[in-house]
Amino acid sequence: FVHQLADESVGMDTLLESPLRLALDNTISLPAELYGPGRKNSRGVDLAVESMRAPLRTAFLSVEVPYVPLFDVESHSNALAISAASYQKWSRLPVAGRAAVLRRAADALEHQLPKFCTLLVKEAFKTWDDAVSEVREAVDFLRYYANEAERIMVPQALPGQSNGVTHGVTGESNELRLTARGVWVCISPWNFPLAIFMGQVAAALATGNAVLAKPAEQTPGVAWEAVKLLHAAGIPEGALQLLHGPGETVGAALVAAPGVAGVVFTGSTRVAKTIQRALAAKDGPIVPLIAETGGINAMLVDSSALPEQVVDVVLQSAFRSAGQRCSALRLLCVHESIADRVIEMVQGAAHELVCGDPADLSTDVGPVIDREAFETIQKHLKRLGFESKVLLAAVPLAPPAINSVAFKVPNLVRPAAFEISDLAGVQDEIFGPVLQIMRWGSGEFRAPESVIAAINGLGYGLTLGLQTRIDSRAQALAARAHVGNIYINRNMIGAVVGVQPFGGEGLSGTGPKAGGPYYLYRFCAEQTVTVNT
Ligand code: SER
Repeated sequence: FVHQLADESVGMDTLLESPLRLALDNTISLPAELYGPGRKNSRGVDLAVESMRAPLRTAFLSVEVPYVPLFDVESHSNALAISAASYQKWSRLPVAGRAAVLRRAADALEHQLPKFCTLLVKEAFKTWDDAVSEVREAVDFLRYYANEAERIMVPQALPGQSNGVTHGVTGESNELRLTARGVWVCISPWNFPLAIFMGQVAAALATGNAVLAKPAEQTPGVAWEAVKLLHAAGIPEGALQLLHGPGETVGAALVAAPGVAGVVFTGSTRVAKTIQRALAAKDGPIVPLIAETGGINAMLVDSSALPEQVVDVVLQSAFRSAGQRCSALRLLCVHESIADRVIEMVQGAAHELVCGDPADLSTDVGPVIDREAFETIQKHLKRLGFESKVLLAAVPLAPPAINSVAFKVPNLVRPAAFEISDLAGVQDEIFGPVLQIMRWGSGEFRAPESVIAAINGLGYGLTLGLQTRIDSRAQALAARAHVGNIYINRNMIGAVVGVQPFGGEGLSGTGPKAGGPYYLYRFCAEQTVTVNT
């Protein structure tokens, strides 16, 4: 439909007519020290609305999603051999050299923001504001991991050596070094086809590893262009190869291949476990897996919370990006004393959301990624419709602008909300704009602690929102929650690289947290060198 839109010369004027509600209002400037003096940080780039319009318009009309050839599984040993050879050279490059290449890539990506935004809109059906945020996040990952690699990959003197005197505890020189592990398989998802792809790849490369990258089948074009950009910045072609194809064949073959030093995966819990089993079944070394998966993320709202604020953060957390974020809000637990008011306001506010064509700048909720996702969500909607009370359905579609193709947008799932009485039926992560709301305050859920215990009992542990004006309660509940990211009195999405390290526990993943100070260690081997001096 986007091509159609371009073909018919529909819309770019109309599309860009509406106020450019890009992500500028909710991006956060990273502290300058994260990027060193004098460096621009990506989230703080002051792109004035007017200066964005023209480049976005030009890119939208000229950039097409590239065709990406399918990888031939039979030849995977060849790819591995090329990778293993390239790894020898890349890992020997001093860390400053590798970091410089990643920073060059970050600069290039920042300059190509309109092009990558367009790819994200056309291939992943992102709204423009999500696309801008995502390009910036990818830039952040490149710079952050470049800095982190330089920070941690320096030999660390151990007790036994101080001030150059080597007659310490053991009377020897002892040093701890971090080294690369080898060839990593990076398997990335379609919901952040640039940012998560780039984060995984940059982490592996910064630490001196080589990469075989398998992007999601739905979004190979974004990955293809990202790899081209990284090669142009100086990553050797053998050190980063893109292998496009289905997880069941290409992904499975890569995971099973001998000689793989590690696997980093972002996607569903089910697939993470499949990978874990496949790695465990292999002969040879024990291969580490970093898995970042889903969540049944909840927000607890107590009676002191401000309903207006709650509604704002609920709409953003549950429905932005069409609910296709692993951090997104799935379960709203609201105190019975303010539940009616909150529900009424959510219903009212949700009707103001613009659902439709992602290429239209005024769109808040675009389509879900493909037919399969659409149908899976429809099944959940049907089930919830039977089992629970429907609070929100059939939010109107955006009215068609002149020449608009909004009504031709496929796979549009309109925001929906259901009231449930307990968590018994809450088992699956519904990866779409679907919210379940539960009242608490009496019976089994008289105390907020019991709600947190029930949320913990779901087994996931990614994000949690707390809405309360009682600080001590927020801290006490946070301490009981088994989750990776807790957001108090704000929305639950859009973790900022280097500032809000992101990742969960339990069914939500293995850690370490992406964009955090411990992430790169997992890509490294540790080596202690003791010299009898
Ligand atoms: N990192 C994203 C967020 O915080 C989710 O994948 O929203």
